Amino acid sequence: MFRITKKTLLAPNIYLMDVYAPRIAKAAKPGQFLIVRVHEKGERIPLTICDYNVEEGTVTIVTQTVGASTNLICAKEEGDAFLDVVGPLGRPSEFVEETLDDLKSKKILFVAGGVGTAPVYPQVKWLHQQGVDVDVIIGAKSKEHIILNEQMSAIAKNVYIATDDGSLGTKGLVTTVLTDLIENKGKAYDVVVAIGPMIMMKFVSLTTKKYNIKTIVSLNTLMVDGTGMCGACRVSVGEKILFTCVDGPEFDGHLVNFDEAMRRQIMYKSAEGQKLRKQEK
Ligand code: NAD
Ligand code: FES
Repeated sequence: MFRITKKTLLAPNIYLMDVYAPRIAKAAKPGQFLIVRVHEKGERIPLTICDYNVEEGTVTIVTQTVGASTNLICAKEEGDAFLDVVGPLGRPSEFVEETLDDLKSKKILFVAGGVGTAPVYPQVKWLHQQGVDVDVIIGAKSKEHIILNEQMSAIAKNVYIATDDGSLGTKGLVTTVLTDLIENKGKAYDVVVAIGPMIMMKFVSLTTKKYNIKTIVSLNTLMVDGTGMCGACRVSVGEKILFTCVDGPEFDGHLVNFDEAMRRQIMYKSAEGQKLRKQEK
């Protein structure tokens, strides 16, 4: 069980893996995530589901080596297995609950930042399969860090690229392209879905608020149990304290307290840093 059937390097330090997990593949819906444990004493690592194939019984995950635990995941090779994979967890994207007429009446834009392009893919694919074509902005540091561009271009109406260094597409941040599409290209979006680094989701939400465009973000907070018991993934959304693992991972971007969420991520990073240093000794 949980054998890696395929491993591909997508960009520097970013790997795509197909994992044999037929029950998860059968139940998965766009927007959901899973939790991976590499070994007995291993940390539980939440990863968004990038794709799923019911016939082959596989789920696809995309992992960037950013710390001790993700290093362990990425060190696994084809034929190796994870100790356990739990999922699908979290609520599916709200699109899944909407009628086709509602979906087709909306102009939808996805904003994907770096590795966040991976969880955007199943949502765009699912909408495309329902006959709903959407626009996508993909942003990354440089051309070599852009992932899934070809796959996304095959299913989205328009894909706009932004790179920090200008090596592909527009030179600038995703918000540069977003503002340009709204201000100069006459795009009247009804919904924006932003998935990527927390700072990107914060600034996309601040931008769309000016234009009064509904915005959904998918939060990648620290998680431990993934079942609403430990409180590690708590986040302030408007007046409410919610748990990302059971109430999310998607929330209204105009209500999320991003500054608090980022402070909590930094707390986690220092713990992760200590573990990484131990691992390197
Ligand atoms: P990155 O830091 O290269 O950023 C990607 C793009 O986001 C940039 O190219 C830029 O266009 C945009 N961006 C960054 N800062 C911005 C700002 N201040 N304003 C507007 N736009 C901004 O991305 P990366 O290194 O691939 O990202 C890794 C991060 O993504 C990690 O923190 C990871 O945890 C997170 N991530 C989130 C999810 C999720 O579900 N939300 C999924 C996977 C990864
Ligand atoms: Fe424990 Fe969400 S991960 S409550």
